[in-house]
Amino acid sequence: MPRASVADTLRAVNLVLLPLVARGLIVRRPPLVAGAEKLQLDRTAVRELQRLRRIYGPGPLRLALPRAVALILDPEDAKRVLAESPEPFRADSLEKRHALGHFQPYGVLASSGVPRDDRRAYNEQVLDTPAPVHCLADELLGKVVDEADTLLAVSEATGRLTWDDFMRHWFRMVRRVVFGDHAADDEEVTDLSGALRADGNWSYLKPKSRRKFERFEARLLHHLAKAEPGSLAGLMAQTPASPITVPHMQVPQWLFAFDPAGIATWRALVLLEGHPRQMERAVSEVADVDLRRPHELEFARACVLESLRLWPTTPGILRDTTEDTEWSTGTLPAGHGVVLFAPYLHRDDERLAFADRFEPSLWTGDHDPDAFPLVPFSAGPVVCPGRNLVLLLTSAMLGRLVQHHEYRLPARRHLDATEPMPAIYDPFRVTFAMRRRA
Ligand code: HEM
Repeated sequence: MPRASVADTLRAVNLVLLPLVARGLIVRRPPLVAGAEKLQLDRTAVRELQRLRRIYGPGPLRLALPRAVALILDPEDAKRVLAESPEPFRADSLEKRHALGHFQPYGVLASSGVPRDDRRAYNEQVLDTPAPVHCLADELLGKVVDEADTLLAVSEATGRLTWDDFMRHWFRMVRRVVFGDHAADDEEVTDLSGALRADGNWSYLKPKSRRKFERFEARLLHHLAKAEPGSLAGLMAQTPASPITVPHMQVPQWLFAFDPAGIATWRALVLLEGHPRQMERAVSEVADVDLRRPHELEFARACVLESLRLWPTTPGILRDTTEDTEWSTGTLPAGHGVVLFAPYLHRDDERLAFADRFEPSLWTGDHDPDAFPLVPFSAGPVVCPGRNLVLLLTSAMLGRLVQHHEYRLPARRHLDATEPMPAIYDPFRVTFAMRRRA
């Protein structure tokens, strides 16, 4: 199996792996995201992987590092790795186990073998994984619309929709969805989750904070004990669990993962602001829809999916091999790290005509989703079990934001539909001018 030279390994580490880790694998570090945007680092990373593919061929490429790691360069190989997870490609890779150990040591993503199967089944039941419209949609959508409306009232008064206001109401919605309305104001549980995730960014380089973790766990148990009807906590109380499930330790992943869902919704609004035709379509989709009632907004969902394709919130999908695996170019030994770099799979302009365009039609049934691996939610047996729930809530939020209001961005944050979309778009420094539509 091809192995990169020391010089090429150093380039791959500097241009692909280090920027990925520096921005924060578990929680984004805003100053570094701003720097990454300025330098458009993901464009450089994609170019570097294209260069390596030209030199070494499309098979997995081993790097000359003390920690055995291989880069996946071929879309078919990416599909294989995801389809054959978690055996022989285990999802709880070494780095991930250490990173997640800071705040969810018994979460499904940090598990393998029998505990993984048990916890995965539990997650799927509560998140109602296969259903495009979650079984609690009636209750959950009301919470989304409530929070969107309060946010819009605040923004209308000032004529500005800011990132901070958006995220404040986003996380209120998340706490109401996960724990119930009684937890709407508990910012501490969100802050603790954020602080533990920031520790997780350092993986095994940072000691675990027992005090913070215990405080976080106590808040979780306090809220879950109420089992409020119409929330995921209420559903958890009715869902059978075994002694190895550790139900409350599945929740940190949900809180964690609603953060990128907010980022994806926000960037979808940025995309629509820059693409008037698509904005018109998004507005007309919700014109006569009561967003509090269960619905499937196909176009709004496609816009969120496009936001995630252009700027994946999980840019690195990591695996470790549990046994030797055979490839057309040779054998990859057991214990090897495997890295799928989502921006390369989604935006390889040598392979994909749409790489740098905003193209919601990729997700609306006009295209064959199996033709190329677009994997914002991963794929295969480890695919995000929250995918449908996320798309329900994010599309409802996006739908509500555009239903009666219009938005403008200043030129420096505006995306021009006639230009290629940037490789990185920093969501944190965005403020929309907004008003109620005439
Ligand atoms: C935009 C938002 C989200 C994105 C892009 C996303 C994406 C992902 C990805 C890429 C994985 C990793 C799979 C792998 O390693 O192959 C994952 C795992 C997971 N996600 Fe999400 N996710 C999001 C939101 C959520 C939400 C809101 C929940 C729960 C309410 C959730 C629950 C989970 C769980 C439990 C796993 C672990 C699955 C396993 O290990 O089997 N996700 N997600």
